[in-house]
Amino acid sequence: MKNIVLAGLAAVFLAFGACAKKEPQLVFSVGGAPNEVELWESLAARFSAEKGVKISIVRQPTDSDQRRQGVLVPLKAGKADPDVFLADIAWLPQLAASGWLEDLRPYAEADGTDLKAFWPNVVNQADRQKDGSLAALPVYVDAGLLYYRTDLLKKYGFKAPPVLWDDLRAMAEKVQAGERKADPSFYGFVWQGAQYEGLVCDFMEFASYGAKALDFSRLTSPEDVRALTFMRDAVSGSRISPPNTYTEMKEEEVRAFFQEGHAAFERNWPYALGLHEQAGSPVRGKVGIAPLPRWPGGVSVSALGGWHIAVSKFSDDKKGAWEFVKFVTSREVQKELALKLGWNPARMDVYKDRDVLKAYPYFAKLGEIFRNAYPRPALPYYTQLSAILQRHLNAALSGAAAPGAALAAAQAEVKSAEERYRR
Ligand code: GLC
Repeated sequence: MKNIVLAGLAAVFLAFGACAKKEPQLVFSVGGAPNEVELWESLAARFSAEKGVKISIVRQPTDSDQRRQGVLVPLKAGKADPDVFLADIAWLPQLAASGWLEDLRPYAEADGTDLKAFWPNVVNQADRQKDGSLAALPVYVDAGLLYYRTDLLKKYGFKAPPVLWDDLRAMAEKVQAGERKADPSFYGFVWQGAQYEGLVCDFMEFASYGAKALDFSRLTSPEDVRALTFMRDAVSGSRISPPNTYTEMKEEEVRAFFQEGHAAFERNWPYALGLHEQAGSPVRGKVGIAPLPRWPGGVSVSALGGWHIAVSKFSDDKKGAWEFVKFVTSREVQKELALKLGWNPARMDVYKDRDVLKAYPYFAKLGEIFRNAYPRPALPYYTQLSAILQRHLNAALSGAAAPGAALAAAQAEVKSAEERYRR
């Protein structure tokens, strides 16, 4: 009897469940600095109001590796959520090769979306796949930049930002020695040295040998060893970089350190400028940007970064997700992302927009840096190789291994991993 009653109750609940019609809802995974996620919330609300489709945002951290994990888990499990998410340019080869992304080409073709509106090097290198499919669309472009304190350079008699890495070291040492008198926590140069994806981007910029700026088959090259030695010495030789560089320094830690006024130079992505210049920032009006330094006879290298919007193959509302992709990549939203976040839009036409150029006159200069930025190798197992490299680079920064030995160990491990993946 008891069983019959329970079965009856279950049936009633099921019936109710079936009748309660679910409101259409898209799930969007996105991370970033707090002001960025806030803007996404307001964009999502606007989209919902316009399209009648509710968007629920899954907030992720800023760290690219942590964000990747947050997206990989549901994708591997074939879960319907998130329907749509932002993906780092560095993950796209893996996500596409795994068959987890909806091909956006048929949607783009049906809607007459003009792909030529986006930076062609970015779309061609990252979004278009060899089989002709379109894995994602770019939302914004990142390229590593050198930030410097214009007031401090002037104070210490420097007329221009450094061109060579050795100039940077000498300038950083001088400013640091002077500023330490008033600020004991002042450092010459802050950059991303923690064990995560950002460290690999910085490493390819310090190596700055152009061509393939990161080549997993030549990790013991003199350029790579010179780069890692320079990085290690910055932390424990000349000490122009703080001791927590290799334990804690990711984008936001670096940005905050410079913004609080404790550094002369900073390596970061373009997003930092908008925050440095915001009302109340101690460095407002005192920040310059320049291409990253190079070695004599070498070239300045900026890692090509950036985030793309992709639709999950397992989404149960791919059409709705595509509408959101269109919205995010529209000229209007791209302009808003530029104006409110200082992001570098994926659409080229926004760089000619009067309001954008008025707010960010340096955008014209950044275009050149983007065009020449260097991508990370587009391998389906890139993130695995990057993880190996991160570990060994970080060990050298901590002093646990000499730069040459760390790179030799990375090279050996990369080689055996590649053999495994290629099989
Ligand atoms: C930025 C870049 C991304 C890169 C990451 C590394 O988010 O846009 O491409 O992988 O930084 O920390």
